[in-house]
Amino acid sequence: MVATRKSQRLDKVLVHMGVGTRKEIRKLTKAGRIKVNGSAVNDPSVHVMPETDDITVDGITIEYREHIYLMMNKPQGVISATEDRNEEVVTDLLEQEHRVFEPFPVGRLDKDTEGLLLLTSDGKLSHQLLSPKKHVPKTYYAEVDGVVTEEDALAFKNGVTLDDGYVTMPGELTILSSGPRSEVELTIYEGKYHQVKRMFEAVGKKVVFLKRIAMGPLTLDPDLEPGEYRELTPEELALLKGENNGN
Ligand code: URA
Repeated sequence: MVATRKSQRLDKVLVHMGVGTRKEIRKLTKAGRIKVNGSAVNDPSVHVMPETDDITVDGITIEYREHIYLMMNKPQGVISATEDRNEEVVTDLLEQEHRVFEPFPVGRLDKDTEGLLLLTSDGKLSHQLLSPKKHVPKTYYAEVDGVVTEEDALAFKNGVTLDDGYVTMPGELTILSSGPRSEVELTIYEGKYHQVKRMFEAVGKKVVFLKRIAMGPLTLDPDLEPGEYRELTPEELALLKGENNGN
């Protein structure tokens, strides 16, 4: 993805970075508390190069970023949305310093599903990851009521017919343990509504616990407890963007 190389108004950059409102920025500039490349600037409308100029507030450098990329371990009971009238949403779990970027979830996990959820303000990357043409793999750990068998794995490999008649693309089922309550991992390359639950329904079984553990090149950080999140590392971000370049 091409970085922003254009100049922007100083106050716009500082509002974007969550330093304050335009009015507050004006006050800070008038008080000489904002410097660009070492010189105090008293006009908040001056143009700066946000990616290369050294912008400081009270001597602290503001590291400019156009977008934010967060990996969350979504907890159960929270909706994959930015707002909801009645329910808690995933963006409610974010700190203000991340909220200022106005990130949104890339796709959805059901309210009762937990695990890897990417949140970003980068609409282009989100669009690419969700494009049905890209077939981005998503891997889930599931606990299933009923004995999951190799026949189920074969059925998923061949594609199963969902309740609305849709035949799924091949999915890869790994049986971790098989018994009255089985444990499995399933990788799918599409994202129909309630897809994993409906695939198991298609073979007469019920998912009782569902957690996403991987999406594209990202795997859920085991140090993140449900409800916790962190920024992607530069390596993770490069992988994510690299996989989507030019395809
Ligand atoms: N499949 C489901 O059934 N639910 C999810 O949340 C994700 C995939």
